[in-house]
Amino acid sequence: MTTMVSRSESLIDLDSRHVAHNYSPLPVVAASADGAWITDVESRRYLDCLAAYSAVNFGHRHPEIIAAAHAQLDAVTLVSRAFHSDRLAPFCAALADLCGKDMVLPMNSGAEAVESGIKVARKWGLDVRGIEDSNIVVAQNNFHGRTTTIISFSDDETARRGFGPYTPGFRSVPFGDADALARAVDDRTVAVLLEPIQGEAGIIVPPDDYLPRVRALCTARGILMIADEIQSGLARTGATFACDHWDVVPDIYLLGKALGGGVVPLSAVVADRDVLDVLHPGEHGSTFGGNPLAAAVGSTVVDILRRGDYQRRATDLGDHLHARLRSLIGRGVIAVRGKGLWAGVDIDPVHGTGKQVSLRLAQRGVLVKDTHGSTLRFAPPLVITADEIDWAIARFTDVLSETA
Ligand SMILES: Cc1ncc(COP(=O)(O)O)c(C=O)c1O
Repeated sequence: MTTMVSRSESLIDLDSRHVAHNYSPLPVVAASADGAWITDVESRRYLDCLAAYSAVNFGHRHPEIIAAAHAQLDAVTLVSRAFHSDRLAPFCAALADLCGKDMVLPMNSGAEAVESGIKVARKWGLDVRGIEDSNIVVAQNNFHGRTTTIISFSDDETARRGFGPYTPGFRSVPFGDADALARAVDDRTVAVLLEPIQGEAGIIVPPDDYLPRVRALCTARGILMIADEIQSGLARTGATFACDHWDVVPDIYLLGKALGGGVVPLSAVVADRDVLDVLHPGEHGSTFGGNPLAAAVGSTVVDILRRGDYQRRATDLGDHLHARLRSLIGRGVIAVRGKGLWAGVDIDPVHGTGKQVSLRLAQRGVLVKDTHGSTLRFAPPLVITADEIDWAIARFTDVLSETA
C-alpha cells in the first residue's frame, strides 16, 4: 500500500535531512505572503501573528518597499564599501535624522549591530575615557542575538551550553531594577546595554521610572546608554522607538529586523559623531553592510516611519488586541503584557506548553510562536485589521476552551 505524502510533508522531511536543526519550526511551509497573510504550499492561508519576530512590521511585501527593491535590483545591488554608492549616504542621513543622531554604522543582522555596538562602546571607553579592561552592564534574561560574545552574557543555558570559552567584560543585573544597575556600575564601566522592553523574555515592560533612571545614571556616570531596539523599535509598540514611551533618548540605538522592510537583512548602530567617530578605516566592517539594495529598502522604511501611520495603527490596534487578550484572563490566560501590537500572553499550563498551543493555533490558521515555557507572543504585522485580530482571538478562545 502506498501512502500519499503531501508537498508540505516531503519538504519538511527534506528540511530535516539538510537544514541544520537549530530551530524547531511549526509544520507550516510558506509559499507566498501578502500583508498579514501567509499561504502555504497546499494553498492554506494563515494569519501571521508573528511577523518574522517583528521583521515584517509593515506587512509582507509592502508595495512601496517592494517597488523600491525592484527599482534598485535594476540599478546596482552591491559594491562593498570599497566604493561609495548613491544610496548609502542618503539612507544614513535619513536614518540618523529619524533617530535625532548624527551618524549610522550600517550592518546586516541584528546580532551584528549588537556586536558592533559593543565594539564601539569599548573603543569609546578607551579612546575618550581612557578605560582599559572595561565592562558593560546588561540585564538578566536579555536576548541580543546568537554570536559567541552575545551568548557570553545570556542566562539562557540552551543558548550558552557547549559554546564556551566565553567573552569576559559583562555584568548582569535584574531587568527593571535601577538600584541594582547603579550598584553594578564601577569605574571601568563604559556602557549599559538593554532592551527597553524585553522581547524574547516574554514582552517584559519595565516599571515606568526604570528607563528614565537608567538614562540619568548613564549621564551622571558619563557612560553610554545603549538601547537594543531591534525588536521593540520601528513602530511595533506604537512609537518609533520603545524608549519614546518614557521620553528617553539613549546614546546608541541598535536597530535591525524591520529596518530591512522584511526584504533584506539590514541593521544599524546609530549615535552621535563623538561616539561613532571612534571607528577608523580598517577597525570594523562588513562586505554587505549598507549595500545599495539594503540602503534603498532602508530609505523607504524611514520614509514610511516618518509618516507615523504605523505607529498610530500599532497604538490603536494594540489597545484592541490587549483588551481582547485580557478578556481571556481566567479563561486559560494568566497574564497579558506588552505595548502596541506586541503582547506576551502567559497561558495556564493545563492547556499545554506554548509550543503545543502554537501548533493548535496553526491548525486553525493562526501563526504565533512561544517565547519560552507557556508564554505566547502575539506580534502581527502592523497592517492587520481589527476584524482580523478578532478572527485570531476567536480561534485562540476555541483552542483554550477545547483544552480546558
Ligand atoms: C532585541 C534583539 N536583539 C538582537 C536580536 C538578534 O537579531 P538577529 O536575529 O537579526 O541577529 C534579536 C532577535 O530576535 C532581538 O530580539
